[in-house]
Amino acid sequence: MAELTYADYLNLDTLLSLQVPRTTDSGRRAVILSEQFFVVAHQSCELWLKQIIADVEAASDYLQPELGLADAESSVEFLERAAELLRILVEQVAALEKLPIRHFAEFRPYVGSASGAESEQFRHLDEFLGDDRRSGRLYEALTAAVALSGTSVGEVCRRGPEAGAYHRIIEALLDIGNRYWHWKLGHLTLMSKMIGVGPGTGGTSGADYLMARVTLPFTELRRLRGQLHTEGTAPNGLADRTTA
Ligand code: HEM
Repeated sequence: MAELTYADYLNLDTLLSLQVPRTTDSGRRAVILSEQFFVVAHQSCELWLKQIIADVEAASDYLQPELGLADAESSVEFLERAAELLRILVEQVAALEKLPIRHFAEFRPYVGSASGAESEQFRHLDEFLGDDRRSGRLYEALTAAVALSGTSVGEVCRRGPEAGAYHRIIEALLDIGNRYWHWKLGHLTLMSKMIGVGPGTGGTSGADYLMARVTLPFTELRRLRGQLHTEGTAPNGLADRTTA
């Protein structure tokens, strides 16, 4: 049997054939390269999203004893990885600021009505993480698991590191929520640099629409943690400190 090559293992022929700028026929090399950059940035974002979604789904499943997987430590690992990968997504939108606007204006008509707002993976992640109005499935899985173990999220917040894996899950959730928020903010500033105040290709008002979508997930968790400042019941001397 022939030895498996790097290219075969990674399906590189297929992967690298998928970046197809629509301006290729224009003969304008700089514009074609900019469009390729735009396509690569979106595709790699979708690739990392695939891993992030799989990780947060696994983290949620590993919190549910009825699925036969209950293992909070594994859940922590999945969530910490997802948080790290979200950092990469934030970097990626920042890199797109190096897209020359004159090239973007030239190839944008080829984008037609296609828009990131149609991204099914982003919608799915939104549903898992929730926003400032509703808890997502991930937080619901955590509250159910914590309740099953005979305690509450508020109590885990109060106990801090003594609460073990549940404490680390909460820390990872906040990293994920904050980085997701950073992504939305970075995307908004990128968008406003690239198209100003005009509408998006998806037909929304653009900046105003995206501005309203920049919200912090895990509102309830933030509220519960915030109570530590007023309850004065935290262990480890938090309530006794004289300086803020
Ligand atoms: C030059 C770069 C970009 C511009 C000018 C831009 C512009 C926009 C605009 C105007 C919208 C609002 C919907 C619409 O009317 O089209 C939008 C939504 C969105 N875009 Fe982008 N975008 C850019 C890059 C990206 C990248 C790299 C991704 C990653 C896949 C992305 C993902 C999204 C998502 C997920 C939404 C929906 C956001 C939400 O509903 O909260 N965009 N984009």
